[in-house]
Amino acid sequence: MSTEKIKNSLKNGPDELGYYGEGEKARGGFASGETLMPILKNLQDAFEDAIKDKSFIDKFHYYCKHWINRPSPLYFAENLTKKIGGAKIYFKSEHLNHTGSHKVTNCLFQTLLALRMNKKRVLVESGAGAHFSAAAATCSKFSLPILGVMGNTDIRKVNSNIIKAKHYGAKLEAVDGSLKEAITHVLKMWTNDPDSYYLCGSAVATAPFPRIVQYAQSIIGKEIREQCLKHENKLPNEIHACLGGGSNSIGAFHEFLDDKEVKLVGVEGKTSAALSKGTIGIMQGMKTYMIQSKDGSVAEQTKDLPSGINYFSVGPQHSYLKDIGRAEYTFATDDEILDTYKLVARTEGICSALEPMAAVCETIKRAKGKPKDYIIVTSLCGRGEKDLDVIEKLRGSDFE
Ligand SMILES: Cc1ncc(COP(=O)(O)O)c(C=O)c1O
Repeated sequence: MSTEKIKNSLKNGPDELGYYGEGEKARGGFASGETLMPILKNLQDAFEDAIKDKSFIDKFHYYCKHWINRPSPLYFAENLTKKIGGAKIYFKSEHLNHTGSHKVTNCLFQTLLALRMNKKRVLVESGAGAHFSAAAATCSKFSLPILGVMGNTDIRKVNSNIIKAKHYGAKLEAVDGSLKEAITHVLKMWTNDPDSYYLCGSAVATAPFPRIVQYAQSIIGKEIREQCLKHENKLPNEIHACLGGGSNSIGAFHEFLDDKEVKLVGVEGKTSAALSKGTIGIMQGMKTYMIQSKDGSVAEQTKDLPSGINYFSVGPQHSYLKDIGRAEYTFATDDEILDTYKLVARTEGICSALEPMAAVCETIKRAKGKPKDYIIVTSLCGRGEKDLDVIEKLRGSDFE
C-alpha cells in the first residue's frame, strides 16, 4: 500500500486540517472540543507513522489473508445477469470475510493501530452490529477489552451480531435511538477516557477517522481492480455500493477515483439519503451533508429498515465527490430492498444482509438493456443472518 501522493490525484487528501476540497466546498475537518484535539492529532501522527512502517503493513496484510480470508472473491452473478438481461453483474463478496462483512478489515487495521499506540481499551459504536461483532472478534484475537454502544432501535433488530460480540467477550451499553445517538455517546465517553481507543466503524466523524477508515477499506477497490483485470481483461464500467457512513463504498471507489471512465455510484436508504436530500452542516465532528432541521440546529430522525444505512449523515469524502461530480448518489426504499433480497436469494443462493441490497437494487435498474460486455461490480458487503428474523416477520409468507 503506497503512501506516496500523485500530482493532481483525487486520491490525495484530506489536507492536514482534515478537509477534502477547499474554501466553501471544503468537507470534513477536525471538528471537536478542546479535550479531544491533542488526542486526535496524536492519532493522526500515529496513523501516518504506522503506514510508513513496512512491518506494520505486512502484519495487517498477513492477518487480512490468513484470518479474514482476503482477498474476498469477485463473483460473477450469472443467474441474476441472465434474469435482468443486460450488463454483466459481479458481486464483490465481502460477505465471505470472517465475521461476515467488510467491517472486519477496518477493525483489524485499527486494532493493530490501538496496540501500536499502547491503548488499554477499545470503544466502538454500531448500527447493524456488524462493526460491533467484527471489532469484538479483532479485540478478542489481540487481547484488548472492548465496550460497544448501540441504539435500542438497532439492538431489537440485529440480535445475532450482539450475541456473537458477547461470545467474543465484548460488553454492550444501550442508548435510546440508533447509530447517530450511539456515535454521539461514544464521542462523549472517549472525551472522558482519552486513554481508550475509539475504533470508528465508518468513514465518518472528525479527522483523522475518515482517512484512516478509507485507507484500511481501500483494499476492497485494489482487489476489484486486480480481479476484474484478471477475469475480464478490463476495468469495470461501474462500481456500486451502499452507504451508511460510507466505508464499504469509499473502500470500493478510492482505487478508481482517477479512472474517470469508471462510474461510481453510492446508494443510501430513502429517509437517510443525506447526499440526495440533505444540506451541509457540522455535527459529530465533520462538515458534510446531513438530514437536519431547516435551521441546522438538530438532526432529523431517519427510519430505514437496514440499520447499517439508517444514518442521518455521511462521510465527508463522499460529500466532496458528490460536489465535484466524481461520484453519483441515489437511494432505495425499504420495499425495493426487500424485493431485491428475495431476488438475490432465489437467483444466486445468497441470503445477503439488507444494506447491500440497496446497492443491488440500483445495479438492477442500471444493468437492464446495457450491452453484454458492460461490467458492473457491486459490493455485497454483508451476509444476512442478522436480518433473518426481521425479514421473516415482514415478508415470511412471500417465501412460502
Ligand atoms: C452489512 C453492512 N453493510 C453496510 C453498512 C454501512 O456502513 P458503511 O457505509 O460504513 O459501509 C453496514 C453498517 O453497519 C453494514 O453492517
